[in-house]
Amino acid sequence: MPLVTARLPSSSSQMPVSGADRARPGDIAIYLHWPFCAAKCPYCDFNVHIRASIDDSFWRQAFLAELDAYFERVGPRTVSSVYFGGGTPSLMNPATIGSILDRIATHWSCGAATEVSLEANPNDRSRFAALQSAGITRLSLGVQAFDDDALRFLGRDHDARDASEALDKAGQVFPRASFDLIYARPGQSVAAWQVELKRALAVVPGHVSLYQLTIERGTAFFDSVKRGAFAVPDSDLGADFFEVTQELCAGVGLPAYEISNHARSGEECRYNLTCWLGGDYVGIGPGAHGRISEGGIRHALRAFRKPETWAARVAEAGLGLEDDEVLGHGAAIEEAVMMALRTVHGLDRAFLRSRFDAEIESCVNRSRLKDFVDDGKLECDERGLRATAAGRIVLDAIIGALLA
Ligand SMILES: C[S@@+](CC[C@H](N)C(=O)[O-])C[C@H]1O[C@@H](n2cnc3c(N)ncnc32)[C@H](O)[C@@H]1O
Ligand code: SF4
Repeated sequence: MPLVTARLPSSSSQMPVSGADRARPGDIAIYLHWPFCAAKCPYCDFNVHIRASIDDSFWRQAFLAELDAYFERVGPRTVSSVYFGGGTPSLMNPATIGSILDRIATHWSCGAATEVSLEANPNDRSRFAALQSAGITRLSLGVQAFDDDALRFLGRDHDARDASEALDKAGQVFPRASFDLIYARPGQSVAAWQVELKRALAVVPGHVSLYQLTIERGTAFFDSVKRGAFAVPDSDLGADFFEVTQELCAGVGLPAYEISNHARSGEECRYNLTCWLGGDYVGIGPGAHGRISEGGIRHALRAFRKPETWAARVAEAGLGLEDDEVLGHGAAIEEAVMMALRTVHGLDRAFLRSRFDAEIESCVNRSRLKDFVDDGKLECDERGLRATAAGRIVLDAIIGALLA
């Protein structure tokens, strides 16, 4: 399939990403949301839509038009990473991906280290080679479980064998790969998860995302839990699951670099780091979010969620935005604290000073900060503020107290 990727660097020249890497000021990351899936999983509350047929050329034109409009808005920048998320972007026509990457490279400069990630369903493994030829350098595979009963419970349309085959294929085709698992499922014991995780860790390509099942309002699982069909582990049991997960992963050289994300050094997802560490990113596509700094002002951008509404808005206004909010100084600092504490790098003093002219101690509740440090849940020093392993288990409560 002839695909236009000439202006993006080849994947083989991709530089390893340092764990402590932070996007350089002025760099930008690009997220593209493909909102369609073959079927809706009962636990998922992502912006997902099922359509009987997809008019590829219509959606391609809409994506390209919004990219053009974002170039008008943010001007020349260096693109540090591109992320195709969804939905199921492995269902996209590779030619559309090629056109999008080509348009990105027309507008912005893409360095040798530009990471191009795509989320994939194991059922789409026959398309991996074409996706790689289109310019994808990193694949994130939605495995979810290595157990057929669990996959049926999760409403997945693939079995464990499909997942293993897809993982093998991803390893052969892409320079970098990752997969997602969902744990702390109803009825799953910590011991059973340990067995499943050990098996999974033996085949991790360098990065893995491990998510505890969350019951989201508006999903089929939410209704099931409400009528008592099943229950998820309580917070104590959830903490036990989390602890064994951290231990097993660290033991095989895959420490957490964020609450749910583990990587060998250099294999961290650069796009995710950009979002968590306060970098600029634009969100293309229905329901996509973005954060951009313009003249020292931080903007929070959010596109219309319904694909057809978004496309109509793009046709009329260039950007498919429902909301373009200026984040005030306080709100922007709060967001920076919340996001950075999810990562092992934590909140950097130098970043806080340069972006906000602020000190950690003036941004958070000082007496709570001291309590958490004394309690071994936080570390605070000249470099910055970080949650310890014990702190990451109760991070939501810590952040709530620090920002109260
Ligand atoms: C956009 S999907 C990944 C790609 C593809 N759509 C798929 O599912 O194969 C993002 C990931 O979020 C995770 N996820 C989604 N909803 C979740 C929930 N309620 N609880 C835990 N993990 C969830 C799943 O692991 C999923 O793979
Ligand atoms: S988990 Fe993935 S495949 Fe399932 S509905 Fe959500 S985005 Fe689609």
